[in-house]
Amino acid sequence: MSERLEQAVRAALAQVRDPVSGRDVVSAGLVDGLAVKAGMVQFAIQVPRERARESEPLRAAAERAVAAVPGVLSATVVLTAHRAEPAKPAEPSRKAAAGPGQPGQGQMLLPQVGAIVAVASGKGGVGKSTTAVNIAVALAMQGLRVGLLDADIFGPSLPQMLGTRERPRTEGNRIIPLSRWGLKAMSIGFLVEEETPMIWRGPMVMGALEQLMGQVEWGALDIMIVDMPPGTGDAQLTMSQRVPLAGAVIVSTPQDVALLDARRGVRMFEKVGVKVLGVIENMSFFCCPNCGHQSDIFGHGGARAEAARLGVEFLGELPLKLAIRELADAGTPIVAARPETDEAAAYQRIASRLREKLAENAAAAEGPRIVIE
Ligand SMILES: Nc1ncnc2c1ncn2[C@@H]1O[C@H](COP(=O)(O)OP(=O)(O)OP(=O)(O)O)[C@@H](O)[C@H]1O
Ligand SMILES: [Mg+2]
Repeated sequence: MSERLEQAVRAALAQVRDPVSGRDVVSAGLVDGLAVKAGMVQFAIQVPRERARESEPLRAAAERAVAAVPGVLSATVVLTAHRAEPAKPAEPSRKAAAGPGQPGQGQMLLPQVGAIVAVASGKGGVGKSTTAVNIAVALAMQGLRVGLLDADIFGPSLPQMLGTRERPRTEGNRIIPLSRWGLKAMSIGFLVEEETPMIWRGPMVMGALEQLMGQVEWGALDIMIVDMPPGTGDAQLTMSQRVPLAGAVIVSTPQDVALLDARRGVRMFEKVGVKVLGVIENMSFFCCPNCGHQSDIFGHGGARAEAARLGVEFLGELPLKLAIRELADAGTPIVAARPETDEAAAYQRIASRLREKLAENAAAAEGPRIVIE
């Protein structure tokens, strides 16, 4: 059933003409990652980066053509400026899409960044993004040159958490990161419309993430904090292979189920040779906004115990606090908006410990790359 629908979808796309090559989008090799499931069709149109903006009509035409196919309930088409894979002899047309100045495979990205730290977790929704943003702002307030990269291609958080949907400027083929709260920030969410669903396949995630690192004018930074997507997938692999990570920080909530995932997260990074710098317990205890009373709703201290068991450092704990969520949602990280609060102080302490830890590691390795004061 869905096979027949896929054929019909391809036939419809074969009627959509790419104005550049003059061929239809299927034979021009522009359709990528076509997925047909229960009447829902998703795919990407690959265009060279410099054509991305002017290709919107082509994307819309492809979407309309597919939506009109009987049996199609919804059609979602995204534009991707994906780098051609290295060897694809069967599809020579794609090879030409590889732009000049691409960092070669194996060459490390972000050479001007002192230390790159991934903020990760095994499980979703534990507060990685909130923690990453506040730690990044805390480090910037401590006088460091800080970059904040949103590596979550499917569900970027930074536009919301930094309170901006500003479009980054470009200079030539370089993207200028946004400046916010004293840091430089970049997210796929600044580049695509909010409503555009992020239906990208694994290789595209890698391509997009590589662009966010390699094509963005980050300049010299002391530290880059990377807000990782949940789980242990492609983004984690890309980061561990394409940049010299100084290490990963694992965020966990205190309860057992989340800790199991934290353990998986720790193992995943260790397996790919990335140092785990430590574990942070988020939503450690509940702090009543009215009376200040603390209650350990998730079993406070679980992450500390788990870190000890895994032989990694416990970097600190953060309360579950209404103000943290409200300010995060409002795009004003609590560390910047309410620096006098206990919560802001907790983020600052964790940021300081992280700096010390990086400096210790750098001294131990005598690595010339990591220069944190
Ligand atoms: N310490 C905290 N106190 C109160 N609310 C919090 C705290 N940490 C995170 N939150 C809230 O919890 C929700 C999830 O947080 P966040 O988006 O940071 O999680 P995440 O791990 O990045 O999620 P995902 O896996 O989807 O990327 C957000 O609404 C956030 O504001
Ligand atoms: Mg997140």
